[in-house]
Amino acid sequence: MTPFYTADYGSLYHGNLKDVIPHIEPVDLCLTSPPYYTPDRVFEGQVMGAEKTVDDYVSPLSGLLLSLRAVYTGRMYLILGGEVPEAPLRVVLALCDGGMHMHLPGFWAHESGINYIFTFDGDPKRMVYTNEGTRASIKTSDGDDVTERQVFHPGILSAKHEKFAGTHYPSFPPKLIKGILSHEPGSVIDPFCGAGTTCVVAESMRRRWIGIDVDEEALKRCGRRLKKA
Ligand SMILES: C[S@@+](CC[C@H](N)C(=O)[O-])C[C@H]1O[C@@H](n2cnc3c(N)ncnc32)[C@H](O)[C@@H]1O
Repeated sequence: MTPFYTADYGSLYHGNLKDVIPHIEPVDLCLTSPPYYTPDRVFEGQVMGAEKTVDDYVSPLSGLLLSLRAVYTGRMYLILGGEVPEAPLRVVLALCDGGMHMHLPGFWAHESGINYIFTFDGDPKRMVYTNEGTRASIKTSDGDDVTERQVFHPGILSAKHEKFAGTHYPSFPPKLIKGILSHEPGSVIDPFCGAGTTCVVAESMRRRWIGIDVDEEALKRCGRRLKKA
């Protein structure tokens, strides 16, 4: 599949992630923020988040998130919030029903509220709890064997949103993404990359990355940011 944009350490792909995923090489980590459930804030071209009921939002989103397991071998960090507090929790329960294993959630505190930072492991063997805390054995796709490593727990990370003219959603603060990536080895995918903060931060840290988004304008914005990274 031809990338929309390629930088030194990764590529952006344009399209619905379910169509792009079969063409992607596996990576180590997934770090992403899908559209939140905001039924009272509908915008033109919206593909997800304005459904009539929470159920209508949870089922397709959790299906997409479960299908992503084909492209990352390590953990998934899922940042979710929105106008209906139960919606993120319902997504998480659907993922657990689908066989994913959740760590204790962390939080991202920002200027207008608090969002969840959920962390999942596909393989329960990675989650070894001891009296000294949570330990893990992780092998990255680069062959880096990080055994008995203290697993990163995000706790409460506080950072203001990035502001970009033209986006209808708030963007990740680079500080939040850097905080997570500096504790997680290997390459990263953000399949709902939006203005591409995950990709821009990974590029600046010289880490392999992949970004996907259905919105071409968002990818153009991301490409401009990558040129400066
Ligand atoms: C909350 S925004 C992500 C913001 C991003 N974290 C940032 O820092 O800019 C969610 C993104 O998901 C994209 N999206 C929604 N459904 C999608 C799908 N099925 N496949 C790919 N992208 C999708 C939207 O176009 C939007 O850009």
